[in-house]
Amino acid sequence: MKTIVLVIGANGQLGSVLTQSLREKFGESNVIASDLRPKDNYKGIFETIDATDINRIKEVVVQYQVTQIYHLAAILSAKGEETPLRTWDINMKTLFNVLEVSRLHNIDKVFFPSSIAVFGEGAPLNDTPNNAYLDPATVYGISKAAGENWAQYYFMRYGLDVRSIRYPGVIGYQSLPGGGTTDYAVDIYHKAVLEEKFSCFLKEDATLPMIFMEDAIRATIELMDAPKEDIKVRTSYNIAGISFSPAEVAQEIRKLYPDFQIAYEPDFRQEIADRWPNSIDDTSAMNDWGWKPQFDLTSITATMIQKLKEKYTAGSKNLETAKS
Ligand code: SER
Repeated sequence: MKTIVLVIGANGQLGSVLTQSLREKFGESNVIASDLRPKDNYKGIFETIDATDINRIKEVVVQYQVTQIYHLAAILSAKGEETPLRTWDINMKTLFNVLEVSRLHNIDKVFFPSSIAVFGEGAPLNDTPNNAYLDPATVYGISKAAGENWAQYYFMRYGLDVRSIRYPGVIGYQSLPGGGTTDYAVDIYHKAVLEEKFSCFLKEDATLPMIFMEDAIRATIELMDAPKEDIKVRTSYNIAGISFSPAEVAQEIRKLYPDFQIAYEPDFRQEIADRWPNSIDDTSAMNDWGWKPQFDLTSITATMIQKLKEKYTAGSKNLETAKS
C-alpha cells in the first residue's frame, strides 16, 4: 500500500526539516505539510490545520487518504510555563485528536514526540534510564509524560501503532527553535557567526542532553521504519546524542572564533534545566531498533558554523541585490 504522510506542526524546528526528509523518502506528492498557517512562498503540498479542531484533521486525512501521521505540534517547556492550563489544553487536545482520528481512520503508524522534559527530581540525573520514575516539573513535561501513557494506551487498547522518542535538545542550522529550555544551544551558534556577544539564559555548567538535527531526523525515520514487533517500548524511547554545558560549547566555538564572548545571565529556565537529566541512557533504543548517534560536539560545531556562515553570506548577498 502507498504511504501518504501528514505532518502536523510542519513549520516548527523539527517539523520543517522532517517534512523535507520524508519528502525525499516517500516522494514530494505523498507528504502533506500542515500547520496553523503556511510559511511565505511555501513549496510543496500544504494544508492549514489547527490540530485542536478534530474535524479539520479528519477532512485532510480523508481527502489525501493519509496512512501515517507525525504529530509535532506542541508548546514547549519555557513558553508553556507562561500559560500552564492553556499549554496543557493545547498539547493534550491536539494529541487526543490525532489519536482518535488515527484510530477511526485506520492510520498505519503515528509518531508522537516526547522529550527529556518528562524527567524530574525522581529520576537519576546521570544516564537516566528509559524506565525512570517520571515526575516532571513543567506543564510541557507533564503533558508529554501523560501523552506517552496515552500513546501506550491506544496501542494496547486499539492496536494503534504509535511510536515515540524522547528528544534531547535539538540543534540544527536549518530552522530555529521556539520556547524551549535548550534553545540557547542553537542561538549561540548564530551569535558566534554574526560575531556578536552571546547572553546565555543558563548557567555555564548546566549540562543537558542534546542531539544534532541530522541524528534526530534519522532516529525518527529509523524508529518508524523498524518492524512492529521490534518496538518493545510503547511509551517512548530515550535517545542520546551528546551532553554538554554552555561553557563547553563556548570553548568549542572559540577554536574557530577565538574572540567569541559569552555572558551568563540565568533566568527561570535554569530551574527547568536543573531538574532535567545531564545525560540519558538509550540502551533500549540501541537494542530494539539499532539506534546510534553519529555527531559529537566537535562535528556539530564545525557543521553549524559552516552552514550558518553560508546562510548569512547568501542572505547578505540577497540583501545587496535587493538594494541595487
Ligand atoms: N527542547 C525542548 C525544550 O527545551 C525539550 O523537549 O523545551
